[in-house]
Amino acid sequence: MAKILNFAHRGASAVCPENTMAAFRHSLTLGATGIETDVQMTRDGELVLIHDEELSRTTNGSGYVKDKTLAELEALDAGAWFGDGSFKGEKIPQLEDLLELLLDRDTVLNIELKNGVFLYPGMEEKVIAAVRAYGMSSRVVISSFNHYSLAYFKKLAPDLEIGILYMEGLYRPWEYAATVGAKALHAYHLAVLPEFVRDAAQSGVVYHPFTVNDPKRMEFLIDAGVAGIITDVPDVLAGLLARKGL
Ligand code: G3P
Ligand code: MG
Repeated sequence: MAKILNFAHRGASAVCPENTMAAFRHSLTLGATGIETDVQMTRDGELVLIHDEELSRTTNGSGYVKDKTLAELEALDAGAWFGDGSFKGEKIPQLEDLLELLLDRDTVLNIELKNGVFLYPGMEEKVIAAVRAYGMSSRVVISSFNHYSLAYFKKLAPDLEIGILYMEGLYRPWEYAATVGAKALHAYHLAVLPEFVRDAAQSGVVYHPFTVNDPKRMEFLIDAGVAGIITDVPDVLAGLLARKGL
């Protein structure tokens, strides 16, 4: 049985400010074997890692990511908002910073294209170029709630894996996945039933449910046969996998 991937959602986001280098680095010490991150594009076309389209929840800035230059974003603090303030000084990383961190490892990188609200034309091409430049083609899964973008991505880069992100109960999503060119379903975890996992496997499609923080729910999904789990607490998942001898 292939190892079940332990994706740290936005890095170790339960104990570090999400989508910062501190969160990514720490997740690796907690046993993550994969990292999930959200990518958006600046006004001057650079790829940055941040979840919200708007800056104020996780930085000391305001306004939209799409309206700022990279230099303007680099001047912001993306760590001070979290916990006791000890992460003050953390920055919004560029995608390249994370690719660099993963260079000499076997960690799988799940890059979520955050292009559901703003489409960020040209972002797919830039992500492909960055992934190729760092030799990560065989270690990435590109996901998005924007399935038009995913289908376009797959046309541009047929060798890169894509994962269909969705929230609700799609009917036979493994068949839908094939129409988009995906081999992975990144489903909201409550939309996953064991029989779906089994039927998807028959078509060569795997599940990577998100965002699962309850150990009981993790165990249910592991027993159902998912190929990976996206979690804010990779240490909890790593402990569970170890106890189960997986
Ligand atoms: O990729 C799984 C999950 O990150 C999707 O939702 O909003 O946390 O990016 P969100
Ligand atoms: Mg995400």
